[in-house]
Formats: sequence, structure tokens, C-alpha cells
Amino acid sequence: MTRTRDLKGGSMDQNNIETIVRQVLESLQDGSAAAGPKSGGREIPKTAHVAVLTALEHFDVKEYPIPPLGDGDILVRVEGCGVCGTDAHEFKRDPFGLIPVALGHEGTGEIVAMGKNVKKDSAGKDLHIGDKVVTCMIFKDNPDITMYDLNKQNVGGADVYGLLPDDQIHLNGWFSDYIFIREGSTVFNVSDLDLDSRMLIEPAAVLVHAVERAKSTGILRFNSRVVVQGCGPIGLLCIAVLRTMGIENIVAVDGNLGRLEFARRMGAERSVNFADYQGIEALTAGLEAQFDGHPADFGFQCTGNPKAHSNIYKFIRSGGGLCELGFFINGGDATINPHLDICSKELTIVGSWVYTLRDYGTTFDFLKRAKAIGLPIDELITDRYPLAKINDALKKNLEMTGLKICMVNE
Ligand SMILES: NC(=O)c1ccc[n+]([C@@H]2O[C@H](COP(=O)([O-])OP(=O)(O)OC[C@H]3O[C@@H](n4cnc5c(N)ncnc54)[C@H](O)[C@@H]3O)[C@@H](O)[C@H]2O)c1
Ligand SMILES: [Zn+2]
Repeated sequence: MTRTRDLKGGSMDQNNIETIVRQVLESLQDGSAAAGPKSGGREIPKTAHVAVLTALEHFDVKEYPIPPLGDGDILVRVEGCGVCGTDAHEFKRDPFGLIPVALGHEGTGEIVAMGKNVKKDSAGKDLHIGDKVVTCMIFKDNPDITMYDLNKQNVGGADVYGLLPDDQIHLNGWFSDYIFIREGSTVFNVSDLDLDSRMLIEPAAVLVHAVERAKSTGILRFNSRVVVQGCGPIGLLCIAVLRTMGIENIVAVDGNLGRLEFARRMGAERSVNFADYQGIEALTAGLEAQFDGHPADFGFQCTGNPKAHSNIYKFIRSGGGLCELGFFINGGDATINPHLDICSKELTIVGSWVYTLRDYGTTFDFLKRAKAIGLPIDELITDRYPLAKINDALKKNLEMTGLKICMVNE
């Protein structure tokens, strides 16, 4: 065994030295021996790369210095980030007037450094270097909103990484290799979910919220007949959330055969291809045939098509319910007949837009349950692009030939 002389003149063996080194490293990691940010002894680069939308339909991958971390800040090495319809709108038209902007809000990655005051995530779980995290809203003007506040508002109006105006930090979006999470952000430790599940958290939260809204009508029950109209990622996740809740009598409606087939694998018992029917009466009869001649008890409208909004009223029984969640943005006016569609039917309608912090917590459980019962959640991710090919990822999203497109760092 190697022997060395310690400073006091005594002798120490190799094991002792290793123990001391480990203790020093651990104390550095939990901040107790370090005045600055905790970094777990890992090499943190001086610069980071971030995709900045500098013009319509054009990202430049820019390199910026990583700013010094404040006591409440967190530096995350980005593993991946889903491309959202919102990113596609911004890429094509910049409706929010944000250019130049670092996009990407469906991201996840690993904590590589954090300020000494960072101890817990927004749900009260411990946070350590190496934990996998996602962000949610940034409540800089309203820090009192918590995950457990039942009167909390939805994300509308709050700031979100990936849609922040550019500023001196620059590392504000998840289409990047490092993101700078500032104090006051909501952060969740999701180390118990795999990368694919973590990239689906944000869109899945939209459906957890929509189903919670639907439940508030009192009409959505264990054995309800449910129509899900639209089988893009949103409709498919809607089916998955319903299935994990035990609702099985689901009919999916779309015009795309591949998506209808996926909807059945995701848990819809039957499906209707609207292209097989001429006119709304025939389509309604075709849908009812799938419910043994009955209209649906409840409908989820998961398209951004005004015609589809008009149609879904016809599919639902008197006294039934409807959740409209397909119009994240203004897709124009739709025609309905208030007497036939709402009033005489005594329909109960809820709108659903984004989600709340509480829905985020539920979403983590939903993703685990969906996998546990064998739903093909991971197959929603059809295409993966490296950061350097972010322009191609957005173009692929606009082509509408895949389902969920993701940026994934090597
Ligand atoms: N409520 C929210 O917070 C929220 C969040 C995200 C997205 N959205 C909205 O949800 C909608 C769906 O999102 P997505 O990513 O799944 O979009 P998507 O475009 O991939 O899917 C829409 C699907 O609807 C189908 N469709 C179109 N017209 C139809 C009709 N008349 N009948 C039946 N099916 C029809 C299309 O074939 C397509 O498969 C979008 O409009 C989006 O803006 C809402
Ligand atoms: Zn999104």
C-alpha cells in the first residue's frame, strides 16, 4: 500500500486520501465549501450554441458566452426539444413579433451547474447536479402562484422559455446546447422519465388540462362514448390520456388513414375517415354507426379547422358535452346553429387552452401510466434532427408528413 506523509508529519494511506478527496468534491457539489455556483466538478464550457430565428424561415445557430450564474440560476445541458405548432407559426410568420428569438419550449436536459440557493424544484423535490429537468412558466410578476394553488391561472400571460424576447443572456430557448434558467422559473425534476417522454411533457400537459376541463362538466364518465376529432399529436395524446383514465369507448375522426391507424393503436376502439362521407348528415350517421347507432356523450375537438368545429356539434347527444381545444391560435370564425347545436340540446361546452402547473405534475404520472399499459407514446416522435439542422426540422414540421419532430443533441 502506498504511504505518504501528511502535513502534520503523520502517515496516511491511499484509501484515506481517496476518502478526503471524495469528501471535498461532495462538499463542493452541495455548495457548503463553495462560495460560487455548484458545478459538480464538471467542465462547463465558456460558450453555448443557440438557434436564433433571425428572419422568417431562417435560424442562425449563434454562439454566446455563458453568463455567470446567480445564486438562484441553473445551467442545463440540453438533451432535446420538441418542435411545436407554435414554433412553426413563429418560424413562418412571427405573429408575436419576437424576431430575433431563441425558440424551443418543449425541451429537457441535465443540470450541469446551479446557484447555491437552488435546493428544490417547483414540486418540492430535491434538485442536484445531474438531474434531468423541464421548465414550465416564469412567474416573475406573480411569484405567489404555486403548483398547489387551486385558483391558479393557466400559462396564458406568463413568460415561457423559447418565447422570450432576446436579451443580454441570449440562452433563452431549448433549441440550443445549453439553456440558462433564471431564478423565479418553474423547474421540475423529471429524472425518472426517459428522454422521449420528457420531450412529450409539454404537449401532453395540454391534453391533461383539456381532460380536466372536460371532467368539470360532470358529463365525461367511466363508460362514456367519446369522439376525438383530429388525430395529429394533440388528438392522439387526447386518446392516450382518456385511455389511461379507463375511458375506452372512443371513436377517432380524421381524413388521414395513417393517423387513424395510429389512433386505434393509441387506444381508440374504432375510427371514421371523414373523406368516406359526403355531407354532414352522412358523416354523422357514419359516426353513430361506430357507437352502435348512438351519438357521442362527449366530444374533443382537436383540429384547428373551423369546419370541424361546426361538425362536431352534430356528433354529440342532447345533454352531452364538448371540449374545444383545437384553436390555440385564431383560426377564423365557424358557423353553428345556436338553436339546434347548443340551446335545444342543452350542450355543456368548455374551452381549454394550455395548462396549469398542477397539470404538469399530473402529466408526469400520465406518461408513466401510458407506457405501463403499453400505449405507443414514444412512436409519436417520428423525426429527430441535430441542432445544426434546426431549419430542416422546422420545414419538416411544416410539411406535415411526420407527427412529433424533435431536435436532439448528440
Ligand atoms: N388548446 C391548446 O392549448 C392547444 C395547444 C397546442 C395545440 N393546439 C391546437 O390543436 C390543434 C391540433 O394540433 P396538432 O398538432 O395535432 O395538429 P395537426 O395539424 O397535426 O393535426 C390536426 C388533424 O386534424 C385533422 N383534420 C383536419 N380537418 C378535419 C376535419 N374536418 N375532421 C376531422 N379531422 C380533421 C387533420 O387531418 C390532422 O390530422 C391545432 O390547431 C393546434 O393549434 C391547442
Ligand atoms: Zn408546445
